[in-house]
Amino acid sequence: METWIVTGAGGFLGKRISAYWSSDSGKRVIGMTHAEMDFTDPDVVKRVFDSVRPDVLIHAGAIADTGVCEREPELSMKVNVWGTEILAQTCAAYHTKMIYCSSDQVYTGSRNILPHTEDEPVQPENIYGQHKRMAEVLCREISPDSVSLRLSWMYDLPTTNCPVKPNFLTQLLEQIGSKEIFSRPVNDYRGITDAAYVVRFLDACTAFPGGIYNWGSENPLNTYEMTKEVLKLLHADTGLLLADTERDQECPRNLAMNMKKVRHLGINFPDTVTGIEKCLKKYSMIV
Ligand SMILES: NC(=O)c1ccc[n+]([C@@H]2O[C@H](COP(=O)([O-])OP(=O)(O)OC[C@H]3O[C@@H](n4cnc5c(N)ncnc54)[C@H](OP(=O)(O)O)[C@@H]3O)[C@@H](O)[C@H]2O)c1
Repeated sequence: METWIVTGAGGFLGKRISAYWSSDSGKRVIGMTHAEMDFTDPDVVKRVFDSVRPDVLIHAGAIADTGVCEREPELSMKVNVWGTEILAQTCAAYHTKMIYCSSDQVYTGSRNILPHTEDEPVQPENIYGQHKRMAEVLCREISPDSVSLRLSWMYDLPTTNCPVKPNFLTQLLEQIGSKEIFSRPVNDYRGITDAAYVVRFLDACTAFPGGIYNWGSENPLNTYEMTKEVLKLLHADTGLLLADTERDQECPRNLAMNMKKVRHLGINFPDTVTGIEKCLKKYSMIV
């Protein structure tokens, strides 16, 4: 039976991965919370690997808040870079396939307005993106068959027994409920992805060749246009939404990703608006 270890198992993604893949998947899935395995301590990691001997490590633990990384760069370096390096070294030593959760934030700072591809040069602007990129490079060097997944912003609703943090859908539903006018930027491009797809497709990527893969929903719309489409799906008042034309006017922010590479490997994420529509139907919020 294949054995997986999941780091960050108390977090938004790690908890969902552990819950989904533990139930009836024919795998032994061991979710490790921060308290159970601090991956910045090599001795702790080694002890866990000695006892579990995992075939696959899904590394979803991190300091995932960009603001915290900006304010506490040493902490971000310790956890997001050196912690990932320790795990990559351990995976290499134990012949464990490592799946590392990176981020579309590695594309911050790009002047390219086309959806990003994995092979383009990146020079992330913020600390979180820089550290995610450093960790990708370390994974590749230390554990060449490791797979780094560049995840987009994810969402889910607070109706599962997994933790939910503020995300596109929860924020939008709150704003609709408040009936106050709000705005979204037009000079902003990004895909956002239902966490359920990120989780469900993980099994397939354990067979991918080592490398970097964009991993989420594509989105041809800007954030204002996309939000308007979602308001329409919800039959909400589109008059509440204003276009913010000032933010990033000089240089649009583009985190949108091209999914051609994973499509060739049989992975088909729905585009962002379709994904949201499916999610709203799943939670019976629309018919
Ligand atoms: N959520 C998104 O939309 C999104 C988008 C792109 C990429 N990602 C990436 O996806 C991964 C999962 O994100 P997430 O949203 O699930 O983050 P999250 O909810 O903040 O969960 C991260 C988990 O990592 C744990 N952790 C932190 N330091 C640790 C350490 N030294 N040892 C062991 N565990 C530690 C945290 O535990 P404590 O809280 O107890 O410290 C937390 O449970 C991260 O790599 C993140 O960068 C997320």
